[in-house]
Amino acid sequence: MATHCRETPKGRHFVRIAVVGTIMRDEIETDSGEKLESFGGILYNVVALAALTRGSDRIVPVCSLGADHFGTVTQRYFGDSRHVQATGVHASAGGTDENVITYGGAGDRTERMTIRTEPLTPAQLEPAKDCTAILINFVNGRELGLETLRAFRASSSAHIHLDVHNLGKRIDESGTLVRGEPADWKEWLALVDTVQANEWEVAAMLGSRPETGDEFRAAATGLLGAVENLRVAIVTGGANGATIAHRLTGDRSVRTMHVPVLPVDAVKDTTGCGDCFAAGFVVGMQRHRNPLRAALVATVLSGLNAIGGGPEDIPAMIRRIEPEIRKHYRELDARIASGFLGDEANPVP
Ligand SMILES: Nc1ncnc2c1ncn2[C@@H]1O[C@H](COP(=O)(O)OP(=O)(O)OP(=O)(O)O)[C@@H](O)[C@H]1O
Ligand SMILES: [Mg+2]
Repeated sequence: MATHCRETPKGRHFVRIAVVGTIMRDEIETDSGEKLESFGGILYNVVALAALTRGSDRIVPVCSLGADHFGTVTQRYFGDSRHVQATGVHASAGGTDENVITYGGAGDRTERMTIRTEPLTPAQLEPAKDCTAILINFVNGRELGLETLRAFRASSSAHIHLDVHNLGKRIDESGTLVRGEPADWKEWLALVDTVQANEWEVAAMLGSRPETGDEFRAAATGLLGAVENLRVAIVTGGANGATIAHRLTGDRSVRTMHVPVLPVDAVKDTTGCGDCFAAGFVVGMQRHRNPLRAALVATVLSGLNAIGGGPEDIPAMIRRIEPEIRKHYRELDARIASGFLGDEANPVP
């Protein structure tokens, strides 16, 4: 990873973060049978990133959206200031992508997706070129081609974080999103600095779904070990928390750390938890340049999202992040602050 922040003339660091993916029209059916309709996909990332950063920072969504929804989305979620810039949001002639999400009892979900947008072209990625960090979130699974990212990577030294999410999934005849191994996942991971995948996504890549703590560590280490230049791999396990594996610069040894979930009383809706995690992690990296500290920020924000009601509730959660870290992760945070790098992992095969 190269430079994460740029310096203003007055010496204050500012960040410019691009979010590459899809803004979806979501219809969510919860465990209890309740139906919720909203805009989703990278909007959770965008709203969380905007809330985590200052007005002089820039958040740049890069995606395609139906022209009929452009006004509603930009007004409702981007605000009036220049903080979130709409320059990278491209009008899609075919309309907005749609997703009907049904949650099952085990925290698993079924998605029925209608894709109306075209993959982003290299020219459409231009607004991300001068960003200090890029968050790629595969929502419809085909918003970016491998060659497009390869060319982008060659021209950018920004921190690129990948949320695997729907990469490599396909849509069957009924419109349902089906799991499958992303055949070229190692090539994708080789083009980014840091990656996050949930337990099912990691299963699609490594062959088995982690369940025990040791298996989560092995999965995170396995992702990291599969790709030479990757610096951080995170496997998120919903209510089981997240496990991070990372390599130190100039040192091939791998360290791991498990972050237990934020203890929350009543989980309302875990939609967007992965997106909030990604936003917290990316900003945490920009600010602290420490993946373990960034994982704490990510865990707390995603935990708060589980008790909130949707993207509209995210801004109010931001000021609770540091107090919640002090309350629930004081010891771990103090160890990280005093130089703890994680536990040494078994040698990567
Ligand atoms: N029930 C929960 N309680 C508290 N925190 C949670 C809960 N579920 C998820 N989280 C937090 O969110 C993080 C990411 O969750 P998860 O593993 O479900 O990601 P995901 O499957 O990518 O989510 P998404 O549905 O947004 O794609 C977890 O590591 C955890 O910190
Ligand atoms: Mg996800």
